[in-house]
Amino acid sequence: MSWQRHLRPTLAPLEVYDVPPSSAPSRMHANECPEPWPLEVREAFAEIVRELELNRYPDTSGRSLRRALAARHDCDPERIVLGNGSDEIISGLMTALSGAPGAGYLVIPTPTFVMYAHSAQVFGVDVREVPLNDALQLDAAGMRAALPGAAVCFLARPNNPTSSLWDAELIHGLVREFPETVFVIDEAYAAYEPGCSLWDPTGPSNQVHMGTLSKIGLAALRVGYCIAAPELALALNKVRHPYNVSQTSIAVAEAALTRFADVQASLLATTIANRGRLVELLRRVPDAELFPAHGNLVLLRLPSDARAHGLVTQLEEAGVRVKDVSRVPGLSGCVRVSVGTVEDHDRLAHALGLR
Ligand SMILES: Cc1ncc(COP(=O)(O)O)c(C=O)c1O
Repeated sequence: MSWQRHLRPTLAPLEVYDVPPSSAPSRMHANECPEPWPLEVREAFAEIVRELELNRYPDTSGRSLRRALAARHDCDPERIVLGNGSDEIISGLMTALSGAPGAGYLVIPTPTFVMYAHSAQVFGVDVREVPLNDALQLDAAGMRAALPGAAVCFLARPNNPTSSLWDAELIHGLVREFPETVFVIDEAYAAYEPGCSLWDPTGPSNQVHMGTLSKIGLAALRVGYCIAAPELALALNKVRHPYNVSQTSIAVAEAALTRFADVQASLLATTIANRGRLVELLRRVPDAELFPAHGNLVLLRLPSDARAHGLVTQLEEAGVRVKDVSRVPGLSGCVRVSVGTVEDHDRLAHALGLR
């Protein structure tokens, strides 16, 4: 007998989400915004950090940052809950929406972001997967068959790792047809498809908007958030640890979203423009099939897993790190490439023998 018998049995089959640090000159594997903030903005951030009282606790719920986000989303700040990255929001939602008598399960289209299923499995919540169709779009009939009785459904729009943008009308319809299911519309990558957001401050109470600063230039801060109906926001705040976002992150994020909003917009616009060149380059990889890209990531398929591994290794040796997703069910032969800077794309072109 050992203390290990007390471990939650749901943990045994799970893997630790880990990404080994990379010193590759071109890191095109993590779907970050590749553009660095200009030096003068980084100096302003440093000044903000210098003035912080590091001996004091941060605000318990990041009120000032919630106000800045509320202004962006035209909603009551009380509806916004901050997380240490949206990973923490996902876990908070699964905690709040599980454990009730006769509790429902999680429905997710697959492939999608891995942390939805991971968080559900930690809590022993059943996961019902609905495979995407060949065009990597939602299977409407499959979703309708899976949703009755579901507690929660995460829909990443655009999706990771497919970069696909799922039909808005279908999603609006599902949210209306299944009012007992909480639909979390994860818009982590929406900034890369201007105008695509489904966020509506007057929308139904079972629709949650989830966002993150990680993909829009601030991954190091670990700030995610959701906007939920007041009753769900209250439940999430009961689950959330107080002081879960550091004062450094609160203060820098607030400045980035307000004083430096124009600079941030230009970093994103540059990345959207550079996605075009990446797509052009990847199209020229022999035998590659490219899927339409709506986020800051591009998915391509090669005729075999071996060819996918070969491409990833060839790029790695040239200092370009991309993600081999060929083992993900439904993505055989696939490689995910995050948009880089002009220099990253030059390096990639050189590695591929292209100009
Ligand atoms: C669709 C999607 N949602 C959420 C996240 C998590 O973001 P974070 O925890 O950095 O806010 C990711 C990260 O890759 C993602 O791809």
